[in-house]
Amino acid sequence: MTGAIFFSSKYGSTAQYARWIGEATGLPVFDIKDAKADPASYDFLILGSPILYFRLSIRKWVKGHLAGLGGKPICLFSVSGAPAGPKLDGWIAKSLPESFIKKMHHVALRGRQVPKELSWYDRMMLKIGAMANRDPEARKQELHGFDFVDKTSIAPILKWVQQWQASQMSS
Ligand SMILES: Cc1cc2nc3c(=O)[nH]c(=O)nc-3n(C[C@H](O)[C@H](O)[C@H](O)COP(=O)(O)O)c2cc1C
Repeated sequence: MTGAIFFSSKYGSTAQYARWIGEATGLPVFDIKDAKADPASYDFLILGSPILYFRLSIRKWVKGHLAGLGGKPICLFSVSGAPAGPKLDGWIAKSLPESFIKKMHHVALRGRQVPKELSWYDRMMLKIGAMANRDPEARKQELHGFDFVDKTSIAPILKWVQQWQASQMSS
């Protein structure tokens, strides 16, 4: 029974989490941009994706691979500025099919945003978004960035892998 980690990342924080999970579990790690990465050949999957512009950036890849992903145990970790809660759940609901969400296990991790590392377009869009944002904390983060990346926050994902592997050994 073998698993793998597939991630998408624009500015590196989701890639960092995927590498940490890979180191801790020994599972192979694939960037979804790598055409050779085939989820169909694994028994269980960990998918990692940032929330960019209120959507999971991995959503198109998931929809394109639904046939190969269907029926497998899946743990999705999202990486976002917003913490776990209804706002994040709403963005995930708008990104993935309902049937897929019902079966997957979700772990919400928090990311990093460094204004000087962003593309000009992203920086402008975040400035415009901040002007319209009524949540003062979210507005501050959009304008000035944040760093919530925390290696210890992967613990629930490691636990999910251990529990799944243990259930396979006992069956
Ligand atoms: C252009 C842009 C849009 C973003 N949109 C959101 C968003 O809608 N909601 C949110 O909670 N975080 C948002 N974020 C924060 C990202 O989820 C966070 O920076 C994450 O760590 C990025 O992952 P990456 O480094 O793997 O690309 C956004 C960040 C950027 C740069």
